[in-house]
Amino acid sequence: MWHKLRNLSCLFTLVLMILLTVGCENKETQINQAISLIPEPLDLKVKDGYFKVNEQTQVIVNSENEKVKDVAQYFVDQLNLASGYSIKTTSSIGNNVVKNSIEFSNKNLDTADGDEGYTLKSDTKRIVLSGTPHGLFYGVQTLFQLLPNEIYSSEMAKDIDWRIPSVKIKDKPRFKWRGMHLDVGRFMFPVSFIKKYIDYIAMLKMNTFHWHLTEDQGWRIEIKKYPRLTEIGAWRKGTTDPALNKPDVLDGKRYGGFYTQDEIKEIVAYAKDRFITVVPEIEMPGHSQAALAVFPNLSCTGGPFEVKTNWGINENIYCAGNDSVFIFLEDVLTEVMELFPSEYIHIGGDEAPKTRWKECVKCQHRIKEEGLEDELELQSYFISRIEKFVNAKGRKIIGWDEIMQGGLAPNAAIMSWRGDLGGIEAAKLKHYAVMSPSSHCYFDIYQGNPENEPRAMEGLVTLEKTYSYEPIPDKLVKEEQKYILGVQGNMWTEYPKTGAEIEYMIFPRMV
Ligand code: ACM
Ligand code: ZN
Repeated sequence: MWHKLRNLSCLFTLVLMILLTVGCENKETQINQAISLIPEPLDLKVKDGYFKVNEQTQVIVNSENEKVKDVAQYFVDQLNLASGYSIKTTSSIGNNVVKNSIEFSNKNLDTADGDEGYTLKSDTKRIVLSGTPHGLFYGVQTLFQLLPNEIYSSEMAKDIDWRIPSVKIKDKPRFKWRGMHLDVGRFMFPVSFIKKYIDYIAMLKMNTFHWHLTEDQGWRIEIKKYPRLTEIGAWRKGTTDPALNKPDVLDGKRYGGFYTQDEIKEIVAYAKDRFITVVPEIEMPGHSQAALAVFPNLSCTGGPFEVKTNWGINENIYCAGNDSVFIFLEDVLTEVMELFPSEYIHIGGDEAPKTRWKECVKCQHRIKEEGLEDELELQSYFISRIEKFVNAKGRKIIGWDEIMQGGLAPNAAIMSWRGDLGGIEAAKLKHYAVMSPSSHCYFDIYQGNPENEPRAMEGLVTLEKTYSYEPIPDKLVKEEQKYILGVQGNMWTEYPKTGAEIEYMIFPRMV
């Protein structure tokens, strides 16, 4: 179950080499003994010599905590898979020093290390890894990165010297939210690929998977109360060829699919085992034509609509004057919150033109009735009403930075994508923000000269540009900086339609 990182070793070597040249400098690292850890640990000391893992190495769990045992088992499973050894974990509580051992402990932790920190000490005799289970999991990722790259293979590698350099590492993350997003609304990917994506997130000690589940081009999450959402809303009548780039020329092949609730539970559990929170996104009020194709009465005009075949900003959005829209969305969110235990539920909020609302009797009536200034305030009404529902269930909403227009809902966090101004404004208002400006964090945008690249979104986000990104804007004073929850890379799928194409786009920028 832990072996989804096959074929990654070459890629990984490549990105390590790139990043070493980009900026990872450790004065104590000898030339022939490069310590390549990504992200760079907070504190790393390298000593002479190696710990050699062999058949006789003992993996000791110095804890009664089941989760510590699970993490040690996760390490051993991958090690055995890659090496062909059959090492077992053993339990030994106390201060025994055992030669040729790798010890997992959650004792005597430094509270300053926080929930996700760890300490790793290795020398020629033994390795001791200490932390909370979450921290230990990251310590294991560090061990994997210190071992030969073949550790990521599920094909037993022969004649490998499984050695780990002598180091002393103290590490903890700088940010609470370290995310990767994936759009499955345009093109979607099998459960096996979603798990692989989650493994990549874990490998890089990131902790959030933002799963964009609904779009104009497809509704991808089974909702028991509304089966037609996926019977109809998950299918578009054709797709376009990226090479042609003609939005109106369809291949004529029905395209679609969705994730069942059982599959979603499986993915959420898989992520949880890797200390990753899955944040679901249900788009509103815009990017909702797949739902409107099923329920045209939830639009301002009454439709009819079809699931969109091409992409762009779409004027057909949920009607803000119709209470049925809120009943529908609350039903959907109720099932979503049962499936996803995340603190935050993403409600979209981006790219919602107000054209229909301006002409809609119901929307205009709502504006009057609620004493609102205009359609921007109507959007704020929409989001705040949804927020109230989500908050009542003990959860919080996060939305794209457009949800600030017309007034930010009282407890909402924002995801700053149109540059960092949204994040700055939110932090100044004492609202939390995740930084994912398209200028640096959009991996659907070209990463090199378009002449040499597969069709991608216009613009240029090079590896260097992504690497240079500092999530805390200069414009924030110390007191405001704490509202920057963290940073996220976004992967939209207007063009890429296979897992391999996604990997091409996220690597190496995600690293
Ligand atoms: C977005 O890229 N439309 C959030
Ligand atoms: Zn309306």
